[in-house]
Amino acid sequence: MATVTAVLHRGVVDSDEPILCADDLGVLRGDGVFETINVRDGQAFLLDKHLARMARSAERMEFELPGFSELAELSEQALAAWRERGTGEGALRLVATRGREHGGPPTVFATVDPVSRERILPRRDGLRIATASLGVDADARGKAPWLLGGVKALSYATTMAVMRWAKSQGADDALWVSADGYALEGPTSSLLWLDGETLCTTPVSTGILPGTTSAFLLESASKIGLEAAERLITAEELARVEAAWLTSSVRGVAFITSIDGAVVSQRPDVTAELDKLAGFEVPS
Ligand SMILES: Cc1ncc(COP(=O)(O)O)c(C=O)c1O
Repeated sequence: MATVTAVLHRGVVDSDEPILCADDLGVLRGDGVFETINVRDGQAFLLDKHLARMARSAERMEFELPGFSELAELSEQALAAWRERGTGEGALRLVATRGREHGGPPTVFATVDPVSRERILPRRDGLRIATASLGVDADARGKAPWLLGGVKALSYATTMAVMRWAKSQGADDALWVSADGYALEGPTSSLLWLDGETLCTTPVSTGILPGTTSAFLLESASKIGLEAAERLITAEELARVEAAWLTSSVRGVAFITSIDGAVVSQRPDVTAELDKLAGFEVPS
């Protein structure tokens, strides 16, 4: 049960109360969009950026989302109820499905849950990564908009499958690699790496999801004396960089310790600066 549930135009409801109909296209087809947002001190971090990405996702999927102010109000209703329960780290999820099968408005709701210690331990302990083929070249999704590159759609079944597969291989998480060998992103995270004094990430032209956390870190890189760049890198080259990280709103900044069993170097000083820049607490 979610800790807090709020429904558009209804406000906070009992989290045990059913809020979806059996013919909701979000359930039947995974036909909808969502955002997961870090909550600290009772406030959503980078909320505007998440709402902007959600609007772009819905536009790409050709359905109409409620306006920015309605979604911001829904978020605030959920956050106000969350603040009454304390101010520990939380995850605000905003979900909008296309609505019911035979038409009508989108179904829109928000939940807030605590972030478990297990989810943030990679901030302290890092991640062992297994590479997994995405099955298409790095430039394929740009040419095939129906593959929904760059869209945060609800249909995450392959995402969940690749994460289960990575665990079955003894890794903590996966890394998508294009058929032509380029390291792209994690199933639920963005890839960053350090090349000399430059903090790098994958170009959005590859169809990765543009991460809010990675964008924030790249935009702030000059504050810690680094340049920022979007580049392509092969999985083989990635195993030899100075340091690499997977970042996301809930996970924060998790350094990569190995790729397919090959040890990856680390820069704990840079990891600490990135955590500090984005305000992620590292568990003890
Ligand atoms: C495919 C994918 N890439 C990257 C990210 C990281 O995005 P953000 O930093 O906005 O959480 C996510 C987040 O869930 C994701 O699902």
